[in-house]
Amino acid sequence: MLSPLAKAAAVITASLSLLTSVHAASTCNGSPDLCSRSFGNVTFVGSHDSYAIGLNNLATNQDQNITTQLDNGIRMLQIQTHNQSGTIQLCHTSCGLYNGGTLQTYLTTVKSWLDANPNDVLSLLIVNNDNFLPPAYDSVFKAVGLDSMAYAPSSASLTTDKWPTLGTLIDSSKRLLTFMDYNADFTSVPYIIDEFSNIWETAYDVTTSFDCAVNRSKGDTSTSMYLINHFLDTVLLGSPVPDPGDADKTNAVSGTNSLGAQVQLCASQYSRNPNFMLVDFYEYGGGSVFQVAATANGVQYNPSTPIASPSSTSSSSSSGSGSGSSNGAGKLQWSTGLVIISSVFLGALSVF
Ligand SMILES: *[C@@H]1O[C@H](CO)[C@@H](O)[C@H](O)[C@H]1NC(C)=O
Ligand SMILES: *[C@@H]1O[C@H](CO)[C@@H](O)[C@H](O)[C@H]1NC(C)=O
Ligand SMILES: *[C@@H]1O[C@H](CO)[C@@H](O)[C@H](O)[C@H]1NC(C)=O
Ligand SMILES: *[C@@H]1O[C@H](CO)[C@@H](O)[C@H](O)[C@H]1NC(C)=O
Repeated sequence: MLSPLAKAAAVITASLSLLTSVHAASTCNGSPDLCSRSFGNVTFVGSHDSYAIGLNNLATNQDQNITTQLDNGIRMLQIQTHNQSGTIQLCHTSCGLYNGGTLQTYLTTVKSWLDANPNDVLSLLIVNNDNFLPPAYDSVFKAVGLDSMAYAPSSASLTTDKWPTLGTLIDSSKRLLTFMDYNADFTSVPYIIDEFSNIWETAYDVTTSFDCAVNRSKGDTSTSMYLINHFLDTVLLGSPVPDPGDADKTNAVSGTNSLGAQVQLCASQYSRNPNFMLVDFYEYGGGSVFQVAATANGVQYNPSTPIASPSSTSSSSSSGSGSGSSNGAGKLQWSTGLVIISSVFLGALSVF
């Protein structure tokens, strides 16, 4: 028999848990299982140079627009910022080589997507190429209305286990986590989070095979999150440039140089999966990059919409052969483009 006091306590406990379940998000980033997981314990797929979109250009790393990237499952957007007459512009290497528009226009698209997808947590990784200070970013975030959605940690760096759960981030509507490689300043704009004291990275611009050695870090790598740069470049005129030709294999679940293989290698070295996996031409592999993330997270991979088809495939179908050998055709078209473009930009280029 329960005493009246115990009964009352039981009723209160039950109502409290009901309240919690009413208010708490039931699905987080596509899965109920991820709501109770710390942000620092989830593996996300990121698009490297997310804004550098296009075909047959040496300086493009993606061929789907930002909304499609997000709809398909990209949950970290990496961008490189440049100073164009005082405006924060998304260019690649230089604004003459590739100009992806202003940060403000880009973030407006991101904000619309976040508004339409209230149960998703997204990260932004800023490569602060021209050393803007945090208040310059803050002005753009405010103009777009993203400052109020941006999560500000309680201190400049957090150990992996101290990040809030995805459920907490979603319930508190602080669903955007913004990391910046250089010039972050917790005392000036706390939601622009210093990358390297919170996340370490493997090598980038890899042209042969991937390893899991620490390449860049500014903290204790045993307690921080980590990011793997999983995009394979090709060497053109002595400089590494993105290459969609091998992307099917690079993005694959298994096999030599695949994303799945690098995750397994890193997990075996560090006893935990990478937090972020940056890829090029993410849709090559037909969703394999998201399958790798789902497996790492121990959840079912259930895409709600089909993964986009590589753009080079569709544009090359006019050459006649239809769907069968479309990737080969895309590759041929790409190489032709490389030759044309390289003859224009003959000179030292490093596109990363
Ligand atoms: C993004 O791409 C999708 C699929 O190709 C297309 O339907 C949509 O109109 C594009 N959005 C913009 C803003 O270009
Ligand atoms: C950006 O460029 C403008 C000149 O175009 C300059 O006045 C300004 O100081 C630059 N900003 C930074 C952060 O270097
Ligand atoms: C980091 O990676 C870059 C590019 O791959 C390489 O040039 C550099 O030597 C690496 N640095 C360290 C410390 O491993
Ligand atoms: C999350 O935690 C589980 C259990 O400890 C671990 O197997 C997995 O690698 C972790 N993932 C990340 C990204 O930390």
